[in-house]
Amino acid sequence: MKNIDLHEQSSNLDNDDSQFTKMVDKALSRRDFMKSSGALGMGAFLAMSPLSQAIAGSHKKTNHSNLLAFNAISASTADSVIVPEGYSAKPLISWGDPLFVDAPEFDSSGKAPASSQERQFGDNTDGMHFFAINNDRAVMAVNNEYINPEYLFHHEGKSMTADDVKKGQAAHGVSVFEVAKEGNSWKVDKAGKLNRRITANTEMEMTGPATGHDLLKTKADPAGKTILGTFNNCANGMTPWGTYLTCEENFHGYFGAPDGTEVTAEQKRYGIKPSDKRYQWSKFDSRFDFSKNPNEPHRFGWVVEIDPMNPTSVPKKRSALGRFKHENAALMINSDGHVVVYLGDDERGEHLYKFVSKGKYNPENQKANRELLEEGTLFVAKFSMDTDDGKGQGEWLELTHGKNGLTKENGFSDQATVMIYARQAASVVGATTMDRPEWVAIHPNNKTVFCTLTNNKHRGKKQGQYVGGPNPRAKNNYGQIVRWQPANNDHTAITFEWDLYVLAGNPTVHKDAYAGSKNITAENMFNSPDGIGFDGAGRLWILTDGKYSNKDDFAGMGNNQMLCGDPETGEIKRFMTAPIACEVTGLTFSGDQKTLFVGIQHPGERKANSHFPGGGDSKPRSTIMMITKDDGSSFAV
Ligand code: FEO
Ligand code: CA
Ligand code: CA
Ligand code: CA
Repeated sequence: MKNIDLHEQSSNLDNDDSQFTKMVDKALSRRDFMKSSGALGMGAFLAMSPLSQAIAGSHKKTNHSNLLAFNAISASTADSVIVPEGYSAKPLISWGDPLFVDAPEFDSSGKAPASSQERQFGDNTDGMHFFAINNDRAVMAVNNEYINPEYLFHHEGKSMTADDVKKGQAAHGVSVFEVAKEGNSWKVDKAGKLNRRITANTEMEMTGPATGHDLLKTKADPAGKTILGTFNNCANGMTPWGTYLTCEENFHGYFGAPDGTEVTAEQKRYGIKPSDKRYQWSKFDSRFDFSKNPNEPHRFGWVVEIDPMNPTSVPKKRSALGRFKHENAALMINSDGHVVVYLGDDERGEHLYKFVSKGKYNPENQKANRELLEEGTLFVAKFSMDTDDGKGQGEWLELTHGKNGLTKENGFSDQATVMIYARQAASVVGATTMDRPEWVAIHPNNKTVFCTLTNNKHRGKKQGQYVGGPNPRAKNNYGQIVRWQPANNDHTAITFEWDLYVLAGNPTVHKDAYAGSKNITAENMFNSPDGIGFDGAGRLWILTDGKYSNKDDFAGMGNNQMLCGDPETGEIKRFMTAPIACEVTGLTFSGDQKTLFVGIQHPGERKANSHFPGGGDSKPRSTIMMITKDDGSSFAV
């Protein structure tokens, strides 16, 4: 593989003549870069055993992990959820279940109107959090990421009507509902006072530096601060002041325009294009026609803060956290009180971000804490790419107007523009292109930060996405997990040290780097790590969104799954296997950590042969599962 220069590393724009391309060129030509010997081909990678050795070294200890005291299960292609001996799994709620006393029951015909879906649990369960009210009652906030037209509509999306579009919009967003303790687990309380549906049409308020900016103004909202709805809510975060963070990911797919409508470079960078075949909102709801409302897409791609304890509260879009395809928001309070939020932008060759609040957390004043995400500094990560042993250094590059080339002459007239076009700003400052950053999770004790890099078929192929550093394999079809520690354990620090926790792979098919790191075996192999989270004991739970063909490169991996990792020893064991053609996503624990909630998203997608969870010939439905230990003990020990 040829050496690729850092110009390419930093600009992943396709060949267009946008002002942003020019501005990136200009900024890059002025910069001094870290040395650029990072373009290691696979040959170099294979020769450099230190990478696998580094992980192999930790693997030697893995036989003695005390954290993983369960019997690992085999890969499975069954249409069910399977957990180890001594554990049980059962559903909490499925797509279409009523959330209010007066809401209709699920109608599997696909003919129910939008008004039903507005009162029911949305589709495609994703990120979620359990907010305890007391020992016996809690409120769950759950993302409903997107829809499966093949099941939502009797016509499978082939003859959409205006009401179908409304129904689709109502199946998106966030479901908030109370749960009550029932024996060793939980049940939904339809009479809960906090129950609420937030959809693609719920009123929200824009906050932070982009508020009221010209790029956010529309005919319906000339002030640029009142936005309708949230959608493609992927994963989540939560704050110590009791709010829920929902992250807007692939918002681009909901916008359309007449064929032949010109797409600007800014729109292109975020994936906006005239065709919106999957959802078809623009045909029936002109808000989503970007030829008529070119600023409407700027109002999505944000992190939204919701108070789950107040069903009439107005959700707040937090523009200080930047606009991109947000995966989740991993929030921590730094030792000096600043709030630090780690954020992934899930697209091939996009970036990893960090927000540091201006103000400090005050445990005595939860009201004041509610303003902490209004103002702060956004950074983007640059990793050392010249490393050959699966570890190295990194730095956080500031995305502040007037600094690092983010100037008016380069197209950024103010901080609002930097936030709205955070991707382009990241390119200007020289951020590292990553293998699709998905979830970030922070170890509860030592605060090491972990991030899944799920896969990237463009690595080594597309401009700027060269092989090296934390993205060490071309055509990366298996994914990896990178982790880092900031300098001096200070999460506001500019520098950090990183290493790879695991390179997923298939040791039964490959003998090279695609076999994975040494903590991957024929018994625990998986692909495309996506959701991650820690329990109170420091176990790393790994959820997959991979290929489930069980063939070729993926032979022996079976359906998607959940694994459990020991961050110390590197050991990974398979804990749960999931039904046919689903993704496992969304993870939270009850307050006592006796119940692990995990999401089964889109079983039977694209009409694959699943009937989960109802069995028989029932329609497959996204479902939250509850996993408990048969002895009633907690996951936190
Ligand atoms: Fe919604 Fe990147 O997963
Ligand atoms: Ca994901
Ligand atoms: Ca994914
Ligand atoms: Ca998915």
